[in-house]
Amino acid sequence: MNAAATSVDAASLARVFDRRGARVDAALARMLPSESTPPTRLHAAMRYAVLGAGKRIRPQLVYAAGVACGGHEDGLDAAAVAVELVHAYSLIHDDLPAMDDDALRRGRATVHVAFDEATAVLAGDALQAQAFQVLVESGGAPSLCVELLRTLAAASGTAGMCGGQALDLAATGRVQTLAELEHMHALKTGALFRACLRMGALCAGVDATVLAHLDEYAQAFGLAFQIRDDILDVEGCSAQLGKTAGKDAAQCKSTYPALLGLSGSRKRLDELAHTMRETLAPLGEAGSQLLALGEMAVARDR
Ligand code: IPE
Ligand code: IPE
Ligand code: MG
Ligand code: MG
Ligand code: MG
Repeated sequence: MNAAATSVDAASLARVFDRRGARVDAALARMLPSESTPPTRLHAAMRYAVLGAGKRIRPQLVYAAGVACGGHEDGLDAAAVAVELVHAYSLIHDDLPAMDDDALRRGRATVHVAFDEATAVLAGDALQAQAFQVLVESGGAPSLCVELLRTLAAASGTAGMCGGQALDLAATGRVQTLAELEHMHALKTGALFRACLRMGALCAGVDATVLAHLDEYAQAFGLAFQIRDDILDVEGCSAQLGKTAGKDAAQCKSTYPALLGLSGSRKRLDELAHTMRETLAPLGEAGSQLLALGEMAVARDR
């Protein structure tokens, strides 16, 4: 443990994370179109997908990065909402029959099961569009707005989440090299996490040196998060995860446990936890929230 971890107690950090979780939930509920406004079925599906029991780890990273860089929560809401909207869209599409064909998400039926496939495709599309609209309408300086849009677009597209999902599908049923696996994880999951850190820091007005520094932490965080996800798919049960356990092996997905085994995967997680601590050490107490979120990514059980 470094100084940052010992100087801020776990209970006060938990209170901060709870408050911010409620804050982003309220902002999401406010910014999503009402179910009583037509097209009502589409709007109901969007709200169903977003307002379910997600961990909100991406908004938490936006707030923690922004505050660590001297920003205020009020200036971080739009970025926090935008990343969660992109994430929720990615989950809807990830669960579709054409992709992972999953029936359970966040402890309840996936969107295409609760509604229908066409509505699920459209709800994902509309959530993605809305993420960018939220940023445009956030009222920040135009130069900041453009940089936020650029960051989220890059993280969502072919050099980010969508590209990673394509690599995931292409690798299904075949053994990847470790470098290929890490590259796939970096795109499909890591890119959006990197965007969270960058957007939070941009909103706080930091310079390129700080951005580059936080990006090292973000890369370790993103990889750790997906490795933990892959381990939980092997070790967890569906009730605990709120999504179907054991799917990766059943679908011959290329994962860390498949390539390195569970102990090799845990060893890699330990290394990444160490990297996160190292990269945050220069921030001292200002990095304590990011440090706690990193520890959560490594040790989480859902
Ligand atoms: C699930 O993400 C998809 C991955 C990138 C592994 P989360 O574990 O953050 O899902 P929610 O938002 O809590 O449902
Ligand atoms: C998908 O990874 C990550 C996304 C871009 C949505 P997974 O397919 O492993 O996510 P889960 O396990 O279904 O949440
Ligand atoms: Mg998938
Ligand atoms: Mg999946
Ligand atoms: Mg998974």
